[in-house]
Amino acid sequence: MNHFQYQGNDLYCEEVAVKDIAAQVGTPFYLYSHATLKRHMEAFTNALASVPHLVCYSIKANSNLAVLQTFVNLGAGFDMVSGGELFRARQVGCDPQKIVYSGVGKTEPEIEAALKAGILMFNVESPQELEVIDRVAGRLGRKAGIAIRVNPDVDPQTHPYISTGMKKAKFGINIAQALEDYRRAAALPNLEVIGVDCHIGSQLTKLSPFVDAIRKIRELVETLQQEGFAIKYLDLGGGLGITYDDEKPPSPVDYANAVIEATRGLNVTLIFEPGRMIVGNAGILVSKVLYVKQGEAKNFVIVDAAMNDLARPALYGSYQGILPVDRSNDQRMVADVVGPICESGDFLAQDREISVFRQNDLLAVSSAGAYGFTMASNYNSRPRTPEVMVKGDQVLVVRRRETYEDLIKGESIPPGL
Ligand code: LLP
Repeated sequence: MNHFQYQGNDLYCEEVAVKDIAAQVGTPFYLYSHATLKRHMEAFTNALASVPHLVCYSIKANSNLAVLQTFVNLGAGFDMVSGGELFRARQVGCDPQKIVYSGVGKTEPEIEAALKAGILMFNVESPQELEVIDRVAGRLGRKAGIAIRVNPDVDPQTHPYISTGMKKAKFGINIAQALEDYRRAAALPNLEVIGVDCHIGSQLTKLSPFVDAIRKIRELVETLQQEGFAIKYLDLGGGLGITYDDEKPPSPVDYANAVIEATRGLNVTLIFEPGRMIVGNAGILVSKVLYVKQGEAKNFVIVDAAMNDLARPALYGSYQGILPVDRSNDQRMVADVVGPICESGDFLAQDREISVFRQNDLLAVSSAGAYGFTMASNYNSRPRTPEVMVKGDQVLVVRRRETYEDLIKGESIPPGL
């Protein structure tokens, strides 16, 4: 069931017409469907029901507290990458024993906060980080559960900016060197080696890179177990892709079955860190057409959302669908959908065949629930958009629109300047 559907000519989110929300909160705004968030999380978890597993939703994809709370209520844990994400996780009462912590540049204060919170596991990305975690844990009189993030050197066949598991990537520790680092970790008194971790990239639309990675990592897990390491967790990261345009990513069931098959007999709890596949198609960005301009070479639909609100098209050249909120006009046009920001890279779609839009029409950018609001900025001193969640017939403003006062919060003009 798609919860963003037309009823007559009007786009709805669950039981609410998108135009009614626009009338209430103004534009632009992000809109999330609670039923979709729930369905995606449940589909993922149910697909794994036959094996011991823990789903640690990747906070970076969409970190709104109401979204996080929805997942905690469903029993999920979190994959976090910063002290700020830990702070968010605590706001929604996530069981710390369901939190894993990844990232190449964890700072000492962040490590300390994570240890005090009592998280399950650090996914360690360098030998030096092992030493820092050990030292901080020793100072606090605690033991740190750790996995090493192993770089299996497989090509995820996705956009280079979001490929993370290849030799030249900054992430993880090369699989050839990992065994040595595990032995080093075992010798550090305040670390408890409990897992192996990998995450090879994002927006993967094929199963083979996942399976290839597991094949390589499996050997390492078995070697470690033979050497007496009590490896309890195998964290396979996130990365499962979604349909933005015409991609045909594996379903959660296909993905789960492939993973279950490839890890059979390992006697570990599998950890997953899905982000995009849970939230990506659970959200849209709603914007209003300010002007339609016929340039010499192109048509421009100038809207009130911009690259600061949704960076993906500008940053990765990625495709996001453009839908009319009122589809009564069935004519088509080819245009660039652009924002008000003073950069040529400020576009949401380029040379795209879309419905004919007129001034003041509303437009929805689809598949915007992942890496949308979380990557938003205040560039051009644009207040960040509200985030709205629809649950059935309820419209819940889960983050209010920023004000101009919010823009200058924390700034000061030194006296005598
Ligand atoms: N685990 C780790 C360690 C990660 O680095 C990521 C994403 C995930 C899990 C979640 O991956 P997902 O299931 O969402 O693919 N901003 C980019 C995507 C960056 C992904 C960063 N890491 C985009 O908009 O496409």
